[in-house]
Amino acid sequence: MANRKATRLEPGDTIGVLGSGQLGRMLAMAAARLGLKTHIYCPESGPAFDVAAARTIAAYDDDAALSAFAAKVKVVTYEFENVPSHTAEFLAARLPVHPNAFALATAQDRFAEKTFINGLGIATAPFAAVDTVGDLRAALAALGHPAILKTRRMGYDGKGQIMIRDGDDPAAAFATIGEQPAILEGLVPFVSEVSVVAARSVDGAFAAFDLNQNEHADHILSVTFAPASVAPATATRAFEIARAIADALDYVGVIAVELFVVIDHGVERLIVNEIAPRVHNSGHWTIDGAECSQFEQHVRAVSGWPLGSPRIRGRIEMRNLIGDEALDWPAILAEPGAYLHLYGKHEARAGRKMGHVTRVFKTITRD
Ligand SMILES: Nc1ncnc2c1ncn2[C@@H]1O[C@H](COP(=O)(O)OP(=O)(O)O)[C@@H](O)[C@H]1O
Ligand SMILES: [Mg+2]
Repeated sequence: MANRKATRLEPGDTIGVLGSGQLGRMLAMAAARLGLKTHIYCPESGPAFDVAAARTIAAYDDDAALSAFAAKVKVVTYEFENVPSHTAEFLAARLPVHPNAFALATAQDRFAEKTFINGLGIATAPFAAVDTVGDLRAALAALGHPAILKTRRMGYDGKGQIMIRDGDDPAAAFATIGEQPAILEGLVPFVSEVSVVAARSVDGAFAAFDLNQNEHADHILSVTFAPASVAPATATRAFEIARAIADALDYVGVIAVELFVVIDHGVERLIVNEIAPRVHNSGHWTIDGAECSQFEQHVRAVSGWPLGSPRIRGRIEMRNLIGDEALDWPAILAEPGAYLHLYGKHEARAGRKMGHVTRVFKTITRD
């Protein structure tokens, strides 16, 4: 990290990306447009492999493969937050890794994450660490029912979490999540969920996209609207929160902050749910609906380049195409103003993100 200010990529240079999913794919496409190459490193092939200049299939603890990868790229980034800490540290000893290892470690452990955010004076759901059934009983006594038990690590799309209602057996709930280190969270009575997707550059510049309003189905993001329907002061506060978090992490790249909106004595108040140290599904609309996409912003930031304009081009609706929904692609293709994105995944399994469609509604109407 010491030399990160000195690293500025030139067109033609290569960015290393850990992870081969659709986020890596869209990063690679944004990089290519700017004349940069990407080298994807992942234990298995995925959507990013189709569009990258180079690929490595190797385990995240394969030091020989990591060394060879480090020798071929100028900077390393990642498209998912569960990069093992060994991998991040091994690479960071050799070249710049953005976002940094501290940001990664904080975001990949729900207990560390909430402790860090509260330390900045920013509200989260009330929470307690749970390592044993005894801890869980004590936490339920303190936080009440219903509450949500979540594994500290590796959770995504609602995986690794379970709601505990009054009368439920704590031991059975703990068994359901595999008796792993966990946290218990009090249930937040939110009226809506929003997210900030923003970029921070090597020199500390910060640029946020318009606030996203997110709706989930079966714990998976279903639709994002932008700008979110909140009071202007709420949006301003959301951006302040995201910036405070990014500054405190000395963050470089795109960060997402998921928040709950609650009504407190008739006034909107924000509670941070979680942060993602990467580009985020709720920011996919920026490819078609902002002057500079979240993927280009991330590429610019990790390359030591200035950030682009996050300005929104209209009112936005982004829908994920989950499982069989992707079969509707011919109808979406026929729709003016609908931008179709398919990730090239072969099998449309239930719950799998196969693509998304962004609709940009111009606020200016012409005759
Ligand atoms: N403490 C909470 N109170 C109310 N709803 C919650 C709480 N925690 C999570 N949820 C709901 O579950 C969804 C997924 O939880 P989250 O912690 O974001 O996990 P994931 O890593 O799966 O995205 C949230 O977007 C929200 O709808
Ligand atoms: Mg989430």
